Amino acid sequence: MQTLEPTSSQAAFSMEEWRSGYRSQPQEYAYWIDDIEGEIPADLEGTLYRNGPGLLDINGYPIRHPFDGDGMINSFAFKNGRAFYRNRFVRTEGYVAEQTAGKPLYRGVFGTQKPGGVLANAFDLRLKNIANTHIIYWGDRLLALWEAAEPHRLDPVTLETIGLDFLGGQLEPGDSFTAHPKVDPGHYGQPRLVGFSVDTGVSSQLTLYEFDIAGELITQHSHSLPGFAFLHDFALTPNYAIFFQNPVSFNPLGYLLGFHGAAQSLAFDPKAKTKVVLIPRNDRVSMQIIETDPCFVFHHSNAFEQDGQVVVDSICYSEFPSLKGGDDYKHVNFDEVPGGQLWRFTLDLAAQSARSDCLMSRSVEFPVLHPDRVGYAHRYSYIGAVHSPEGNAPLQAVLKKDWHTGEEQLASFAPHGFGGEPVFIPRPGGMDEDDGWLMLLVYDGTRRCSDLVIMDGQNITREIARLKLKHHIPYGLHGSFAPVYFGPEDGEA
Ligand code: CO
Repeated sequence: MQTLEPTSSQAAFSMEEWRSGYRSQPQEYAYWIDDIEGEIPADLEGTLYRNGPGLLDINGYPIRHPFDGDGMINSFAFKNGRAFYRNRFVRTEGYVAEQTAGKPLYRGVFGTQKPGGVLANAFDLRLKNIANTHIIYWGDRLLALWEAAEPHRLDPVTLETIGLDFLGGQLEPGDSFTAHPKVDPGHYGQPRLVGFSVDTGVSSQLTLYEFDIAGELITQHSHSLPGFAFLHDFALTPNYAIFFQNPVSFNPLGYLLGFHGAAQSLAFDPKAKTKVVLIPRNDRVSMQIIETDPCFVFHHSNAFEQDGQVVVDSICYSEFPSLKGGDDYKHVNFDEVPGGQLWRFTLDLAAQSARSDCLMSRSVEFPVLHPDRVGYAHRYSYIGAVHSPEGNAPLQAVLKKDWHTGEEQLASFAPHGFGGEPVFIPRPGGMDEDDGWLMLLVYDGTRRCSDLVIMDGQNITREIARLKLKHHIPYGLHGSFAPVYFGPEDGEA
């Protein structure tokens, strides 16, 4: 059971333990967490929301990729040194229909097929809006996001699904909305939510939206991009929304004919350039496209403007990090999959040129920072990392980087702990950029349960509290913190 398989360097983890974090969690819970090591800070008040696939199978039919799993929301509501946990599936149309039928009724974008082989899948292009990627609280609305369809609105306390949300009428039924909206911390006075939708094919139409703190639309404009555009995330500065158009092409034949999923129709072209698309937020000057070396980017860390240049920090892969044909994600050979590295792109808008520099060669993903630094030069990054400085492996650590001094801190949960995206929560009234708490869901392969770990943002090797859940949460994707307590009233459960 406990065979430790060495990775390409000295770190070791058990594939079997790692894999056990990809079990479905069909149960829905609601309870005060009472198994705690350390102490929850008394001045920590608000609600951490996390989203990710809750089901890795549908009544025993395995899904082909975790990205196809039904969205399950986890909430941790903090007040007076206590924490209330709740998880609930988003009642999407597809989730409800499939749970009723007891079998998959839709094909997944990442390759899950319906039972019945090619004939059952050919020409079935209906998308199942699985609401599994991110969750944000904005304008008194809690929204579960999946980038290829509309947001779902949820009750922030009970996590009950209220229904599809059209952002105050900005979206039409069937429109998409990004899973990665950005909060502008106040470049125009008040904070704003900036998001986009993209309609892609032979060419692409990208629409940028900005909402005020009440959720009312401030501005909206659309732009045409040549070619297919796989756009997952973007970066924001005071003047620009910045997108990386990855050098991938889309050949939908195999998908149309029912052989595989839409995502497996993507092909990375190492000879093509990555296009950096700068959309002016005021829409009065035209869009610019600057080419750079080919790479594949899901997530950006931050961007800022400096001396006529725009600097973008992003996690780059040397190719589209797909599973090779037929591979089962649970048996992935980490040595054969490229790891993400943090790169800096310095864009000279006048010269239309880009310089790229590797900032961090360790395999990393899910960079976060103090929310007030979005669009400004930041001093600190927190980022999910592998345990070893070399080689690819599951994310088992968090790394903090001080860009002023170069100092790095590594909080590692290896060999039995497996992490993901951290969340940085500023301490109310804190003055320093790293004055706050860093939270991370850690799957404990020994206990086969998940822990929420709270670290000191100034010294992440100091664990302040570890909240031990009674069960596991499958590895998730993104989440955010709302500075409002959305737990039960005192004494209630
Ligand atoms: Co993402």
